[in-house]
Formats: sequence, C-alpha cells, structure tokens
Amino acid sequence: MNPANIRIFSTADIGQAALDRLRARGYEVEVYPEIEPPPADLIIDKLRGGVQVLITTLRDRIDDEVFAAGGQTLKLVAQCAVGFDNIDRAAANRHRIPFTNTPDVLTEATAEFAFFLLGAVSRKLYSSEKLVESGKWGAWHPYLPFLGDEVTGKTVGIIGVGRIGKAFAKKCIGFDMDILLYNPSSRDEQFVESARREMSLRHESGFSRVLRSIDYVPFDEALQRADYVSIHAPLILPSQSRNTTYHLIDRDALQKMKPTAYLVNTSRGPVVDERALYDALVANTIAGAALDVYEKEPLPADSPLLDPALRDRLRLFHHFGSGTKETRLSPDPDTGMAGRCVQAVIDMIEGAYGGNPANMPFVVNKEAFK
Ligand code: GLV
Repeated sequence: MNPANIRIFSTADIGQAALDRLRARGYEVEVYPEIEPPPADLIIDKLRGGVQVLITTLRDRIDDEVFAAGGQTLKLVAQCAVGFDNIDRAAANRHRIPFTNTPDVLTEATAEFAFFLLGAVSRKLYSSEKLVESGKWGAWHPYLPFLGDEVTGKTVGIIGVGRIGKAFAKKCIGFDMDILLYNPSSRDEQFVESARREMSLRHESGFSRVLRSIDYVPFDEALQRADYVSIHAPLILPSQSRNTTYHLIDRDALQKMKPTAYLVNTSRGPVVDERALYDALVANTIAGAALDVYEKEPLPADSPLLDPALRDRLRLFHHFGSGTKETRLSPDPDTGMAGRCVQAVIDMIEGAYGGNPANMPFVVNKEAFK
C-alpha cells in the first residue's frame, strides 16, 4: 500500500522523532493531543471516519466494538507497549485485524527498574531520604532509627522467566544472589547453563566468595525460600486460559513467603491480589513490597495501599518500569518502543515479509493469518 493514502490515529504522542519517520514516508498522522487517553467514542468515530491504522497504548481498551468500527478499513492496531492485555485478541482474530507490540526493547529498562525497586525497599531509601528532608537526621547510631536488609548474597525468586525475568536474573548474578526460577510452561536450560558458567567464573576469580546457584523450582518452593520475590509474568485472565495468572500472588501465596521477605511487582497489577497484600503487610507476614503496577491504574485515591502507616515498607511507583528516554522514545526500532511501534506500521502497510502478517516479527496474533 502507498503510505500517502494511509491515515493513522495515534491515541497518544508516542514521540516526535518516531512519528516523523512515518510522516517523512508520506503517512498522514493525527495525534490525540491530551495527556489523558481519548474517550472510547472518539476512537470509534475516528475508525468510522476511515482511519486505517490505530496506534494505541495500554490505556486504550481495544475490544470487539472497536474492531467492528474499523470494518473493512482498519488495517492494523499498533500497540506501543510489550503488554497487550488491553486488546481483545479473540476479537482481533474474528475481524482478522493484526495487532503488534514492542517486545525486547523494554526488557533491560524494566528488569533494571525491578532490581532498583528491590534495593530501594530493602535498603529503606525512602525512609532515609525522608529523614534528611524532614530535618530528623540525628546522631549516628549503630542501628537507630532503622536498618535495611542487605541484598548481596541473598536468595531471589523469579516468578515468570521470559525475556524480562531472564534479564532480571542476570542483574541478580552481579549481586551474588542464589536464584530460584519459576515458570509454569517451559524451561530454558541453556540460559541456566550460561548463568551457572558466569556464577562459576565469578567464584573462581574471587569476585564472589560463595559459588551461587540457579535452578528451576516449583512455585511454592520459590515463595518459601526467597528473600525477594520478583514477578515477571504476563497477565492471563481466567477467561483466556486455564493457566491464569490473575491473583497468582494471593493470600495463600503470600502466606508461604518468609516474614522477612519482600515482594516486587513490575509485571501487571492483577497478578497480585492487592487486598491480600495489604493484609499481609499489616499483619507483618512479609517484610515489605514495591509495586509499579496495580489492579486499577492510576491507583485510586481510596486504595488501602496508600495507607500512610505502610509508607516505609510499601513503595509505590507509577507504572514506570519502561520509563527511560531511550526505551520510550528512540525512533530506532532496535532501541525504542516508539521506533518499534512505527516499524510495525511500516512493515504492515508497506508489505514487508511478503506482506504476510504471520511472518512479521512484531505481529502478536499471527495465528489469525497462518
Ligand atoms: C509496559 O508495561 C508495557 O507492557 O509495555
């Protein structure tokens, strides 16, 4: 298709440089200018008005009604995110409309963010800053007003061992941690072998006093043995599969964790039962938690998680895991989400990979085109 005949509606400003790549090729690109997402009706109006490509973010609900409004005209939904739980895959397939995501480019940003969260909550960075800021920093004392928990040499449980889980594991190796991997569907033995080689090398060269270990373990064992549990699983709703991850970390799972352990979630909010987490923190059945994602985003003002009594042990962030300039905005498809998102548009509209969505690297619902 000739880009000059293609109209794109982007529900957010995904970055000037990437959008300019499309404009330079002749695409007509309209960007919704507000910070808040557009109302659902507006997306439907745009589609009925003949928009052929929709660029979306996690904030847009792309359901059957949206695909139906696209009718024969909508060619592609290009999501600027790796996650796509806002897009009804079955509906996309019924309407035979491909949708794309931006895998890989946010792997390191999200993995490092998860690691920083782990460190921040464990070493009480917020409490320390608050002390300085509030002028309550008193005399040096061996253990008052508080101490943190050291991360180096501890055991980490990684729930969900895809791209981000593995990148996170690599960072944990640098902190000489013992690593417990839990993944329900598959095991990457080669990754484990490579990790063990690195651990051996660190040990042999004297970088690490102890030879550290990495193993796949059952879910309960990961929870029971870990000093830190970090979640890197996708959200799979019960309506989508029997292997649901909805409330995977529920009351029962939290009970299995050590009272000294911390939970970190940078995956999707509904993977954790927030009410159960709140209760576990209040009852001190776990030491603390750091969250970047929530059951409802933005976090509602009446969420129990905002309880000021938990501030020092429960650190909350604004779905910021992939929030680096490089990862969010780079127009380079090998570096930035924006770049990868517009590359997906170019591939689809300009007929790369033989014009077959099933062969295009960023198409998610390939099954509809096989
Ligand atoms: C971020 O959460 C993403 O899915 O891209």
